Amino acid sequence: MTQVIKTSEAWRALRTGDLKDHSIGFVPTMGSLHAGHVSLIKRSLQENAITVVSIFVNPTQFNDPKDLERYPRKDEEDLALLRSLQVDYVFFPDYKTLYPDDYQFRVTESIISSIMEGSSRPGHFDGVLTVVMRLLNIIQPSRSYFGEKDYQQYLLIREMVRSFFMPVEIIPCPTVRDADGLALSSRNVLLTPEDRQKAPMLFRLLSSTQSTDAIMIELERHGFHVDYIIDYEGRRFGAVYLGKVRLIDNVPLNETH
Ligand code: PAF
Repeated sequence: MTQVIKTSEAWRALRTGDLKDHSIGFVPTMGSLHAGHVSLIKRSLQENAITVVSIFVNPTQFNDPKDLERYPRKDEEDLALLRSLQVDYVFFPDYKTLYPDDYQFRVTESIISSIMEGSSRPGHFDGVLTVVMRLLNIIQPSRSYFGEKDYQQYLLIREMVRSFFMPVEIIPCPTVRDADGLALSSRNVLLTPEDRQKAPMLFRLLSSTQSTDAIMIELERHGFHVDYIIDYEGRRFGAVYLGKVRLIDNVPLNETH
């Protein structure tokens, strides 16, 4: 049976008691779960004795308060889904539980986070790294699972864990896509039907052999507002707006690029 845990003390008692010798897989989320999250959760269920999923819409990683307001939430549906997947524990903290210091202390990285999402969304990665470190310190999992759709986030978390000698394995999982190629994201539900039709063009063009400049021009021509198309560390990354909705994606670069 799925058990909901709300405080760090309640989890710590389990982790140091009944669950002391278990392998623990951890999937941090901001809720609004979709098939991308389900693939991370299924992998954790396969690889660990116990799986913990956290749901926390982390305010410190939203540089735009309107984006935080608009962020979709569906806690009851999420809990029902997690129960149906037979997840062992759901960690459901409030702000005070994760931020007893009101964000006085934070984790900052200065190189990987200076480009792409980091330069377009000031403070975003400080918020992500700080909340992930707090969650990992509370849950103390053996492994933690992150989607490759947020590849820059994955790189930063992998390097944070290495740099701070944190005893957890960070596992990247492939991006899950709709049949037309659009990377699944909780934000996709905010797209208008017309923009939803257009959205897969980002993935199609990133996967093409065109140059980054040509891709930018093509996207703008179709009504996207392009933030960046960049090659970095063997992958091609893109961020665009359709209306107010920000979409990001990335693909591995192969010999044809
Ligand atoms: O990828 C996300 O959903 C969030 O950035 C994370 C890792 C749960 C931290 O809030």
